Amino acid sequence: MKITFAEQADAEIAAFVVDEDGGLPPAAKALDEATGGLLSEALSQDRFTGKHGQQETVVLPKSAPSRRAVLIGGGKLNERDARAQEKIGALLFKQQGGSGFKTMALHVDDAAFANRAAIGAELASYRFDQFFTKLKDDQKPSLEALTLVTSEADAAKADWGHYEAATEGTKLARDLMNLPPNVLYPETFAKRIKELEEFGLEVEILDEDDMEKLGMGALLGVGQGSRRESRLAIMKWMGGKDGDAPVALCGKGVCFDAGGISIKPGPGMEDMRGDMGGAAAVTGAMLSLAKRKAKANVVGLVGLVENMPDGNAIKPSDILTSASGQTIEVQNTDAEGRLVLADVLWYAQQHFKPQSIVDLATLTGAIVISLGHHHAGLFTNDDGVADGLTKAGLTEGERVWRLPLGSEYDSLLKSKFADMRNIGGRAAGSITAAQFLKRFVNEGQKWAHIDIAGVAWVDGEKSPLDPSWASGFGPRLLDRWIADNYEG
Ligand code: BES
Ligand code: ZN
Ligand code: ZN
Repeated sequence: MKITFAEQADAEIAAFVVDEDGGLPPAAKALDEATGGLLSEALSQDRFTGKHGQQETVVLPKSAPSRRAVLIGGGKLNERDARAQEKIGALLFKQQGGSGFKTMALHVDDAAFANRAAIGAELASYRFDQFFTKLKDDQKPSLEALTLVTSEADAAKADWGHYEAATEGTKLARDLMNLPPNVLYPETFAKRIKELEEFGLEVEILDEDDMEKLGMGALLGVGQGSRRESRLAIMKWMGGKDGDAPVALCGKGVCFDAGGISIKPGPGMEDMRGDMGGAAAVTGAMLSLAKRKAKANVVGLVGLVENMPDGNAIKPSDILTSASGQTIEVQNTDAEGRLVLADVLWYAQQHFKPQSIVDLATLTGAIVISLGHHHAGLFTNDDGVADGLTKAGLTEGERVWRLPLGSEYDSLLKSKFADMRNIGGRAAGSITAAQFLKRFVNEGQKWAHIDIAGVAWVDGEKSPLDPSWASGFGPRLLDRWIADNYEG
């Protein structure tokens, strides 16, 4: 959608925010007078109280400058935080996006509200409809342009570049997630990443031979049961000072997780096309950083595989040798994400000596039981990183909640046959998964792991900012964290 900021604007739909139990906002007064009080009348009738998200549409006479006026409830002023502002933009799009009109002007108080409402409308307007061949025009949104009208239009415009880049990242992550696994598999995912060079990222793709030479037996072990070849994609954005160690973002990119020989039950297996949500988040974040020309050095590394059962697949009791040299007894081939990340984490440290690492992965079903769909699980060996990520998540509405690590959990990974096994038993499944990853993190290396299995897609009640299957969780969080912590 085309987003603009202006001090005044003509549009087919004129939208105004009404405080809960408040009167008509000053911005609506002129239109109200020009229409003989139609807006005040709408406000005094019906059940419209200005409760957050309520909408009242007023048909305007031909003589008026707009075709429709929309009053949208802003809720109580003291409760109107960034999330509430974003939702106002999103709910307006949801209700008016298919109204047949092409242009809308939303009147808001200040630059921050303008940007938040724009983010909301932009994310709510996301669609993934490329596989519908019979869509008629009236089944597609009509709204093409939104102008945020505010006296702080210049300030809003100045900030939008950053926010817009972040929403581009979210939308890319959604696209990658929503694509079916016969279209998006390791090779095609890597190809799409390569195409991001257009935006100034430097991209390197390792194939199976390259990874074989590096001894990546854990990642390759997962991929060996698939007809599709595995890939490791490395994206670089060096917008910071020359010689500054980069931040590394690592992602689990299991393009389909059938479970392997420890095959998953049929019902719900289709969701496992989203098991590359960590890789999608990292790719989206790298695009955001490039689009806004972030002043930071950041590398993104995603391990791309398919976890399938076939005659060549790894079996429970196989022992794999990871690139770090550590051996792993595979007790459950469905605990594959940690195997992939083990080698990705090793590569990130070996090649980039990063100042900090964040990995993202749809790693465990257990995190969905712990935190549901409203927080991702955060595990880290560094309190500063924990604070930074927690704050960034609150700022952008992609929340994380810290869970513990500890040697007692690590002991659950002991194996009779190898350095470790790849599962820890039923108890504390998300923590033992994080402990497994920690075994591949060098002493003294700052590192965080974010388990996004509960937030990468949400069935049931969803936010109006999240209209497709995939939420696109991650780019906004990572982009904000980097902006606030690594860009002077
Ligand atoms: N990709 C799954 C985790 C998952 C589950 C993501 C549900 C999203 C929704 C992961 O590879 C997996 O299968 N984990 C197992 C680990 C177990 C075998 C120790 C799990 O969570 O059941
Ligand atoms: Zn699995
Ligand atoms: Zn998985």
